[in-house]
Amino acid sequence: MGRVIVTGGAGFIGSHLVDKLVRSGYEVTVIDNLSGGDVNNLKDSLGSGRVNLVKADLRNWGDWVGEFKGALAVFHLAANPEVKVSSVEPRSHFDNNLVATFNVAEAARLGDVKYIVFASSSTVYGDARVLPTPEDHPIEPISVYGATKAAGEVMLGTYSRLYGIRVVNLRYANIVGPRSRHGVIYDFYVKLMRNPSVLEVLGDGSQRKSYLYVDDAVDATLFLFNKLINGGLQDQAFNVGNRDWVTVMEIAKIVIEEVGLRNVNIVTKLTTPDGRGWPGDVKYMLLDISRLTGLGWSPRYSSAEAVRLTIRWLKGASSS
Ligand SMILES: NC(=O)c1ccc[n+]([C@@H]2O[C@H](COP(=O)([O-])OP(=O)(O)OC[C@H]3O[C@@H](n4cnc5c(N)ncnc54)[C@H](O)[C@@H]3O)[C@@H](O)[C@H]2O)c1
Repeated sequence: MGRVIVTGGAGFIGSHLVDKLVRSGYEVTVIDNLSGGDVNNLKDSLGSGRVNLVKADLRNWGDWVGEFKGALAVFHLAANPEVKVSSVEPRSHFDNNLVATFNVAEAARLGDVKYIVFASSSTVYGDARVLPTPEDHPIEPISVYGATKAAGEVMLGTYSRLYGIRVVNLRYANIVGPRSRHGVIYDFYVKLMRNPSVLEVLGDGSQRKSYLYVDDAVDATLFLFNKLINGGLQDQAFNVGNRDWVTVMEIAKIVIEEVGLRNVNIVTKLTTPDGRGWPGDVKYMLLDISRLTGLGWSPRYSSAEAVRLTIRWLKGASSS
């Protein structure tokens, strides 16, 4: 089946993708600087003998570029995924998300890689005027993180038109599940482990977003990849999300229930006048996924189920 590259393959989504690519028969080269990822995430796949882990930083042009020669495709997932941090440390996002994406595009061009699958984000839409938000909605990010993803899409689009590399941009909703070590569920869990009587919620709790279980996200990613390599994709951008959404307050209640606590005092902390979690937080996110479902894919788990499965895994992982 050939060899593919997964950047950020030691991270949360990346490692699940690597697992599934290996099960599908691919040889996989993972390129990761392990800034947010963990070799342990790959322990099953590394044991298969079909995965080569290259520890390298994509911000710097280096020996890793040689790995692209002879690869069929690159799944570009490496990034700083912390949206909240991007409003206070924008340069880290510019470097890890945009400079790295340019370097990956260049390495793909020089290595004659035919396909790029890019982990973009729902944050490219900013405060969407239409919900559920379709792919042709204006791109108006309100976080530096979202801006780096939007700029990455534009850069890759140009590489596609200019050099003929086939690209698909996946605008992921909030992806949750085993191995996730950032985001609201993880944050609530860590806070409750530290102090089981109080849970601080950033924002007014009415923020409402769509959550997709990581197995569904990886499934959709490979579904679109297969269409891409078989020449069956007419569009370059796809929303990858769920049909429903949940509020942050509902997530807090699910987490408290799953952890088995009672009488937790939920305290909201307002950091913006309109109740967002932080400056740059998109308050309402629900993607129109009809472009993707129209091709025959659909999510298995609802947003609330995805949240519940994630918290159950976190509980299990910290007790084992
Ligand atoms: N998790 C989500 O909800 C979500 C939503 C939308 C988009 N995304 C995107 O999906 C991708 C994967 O996200 P994730 O949640 O798995 O995050 P993650 O932090 O678990 O994975 C990112 C990986 O990239 C690596 N990395 C970061 N900077 C690097 C660099 N300069 N060079 C080499 N490796 C580097 C990290 O070590 C990590 O292993 C990211 O591009 C993220 O922006 C994630």
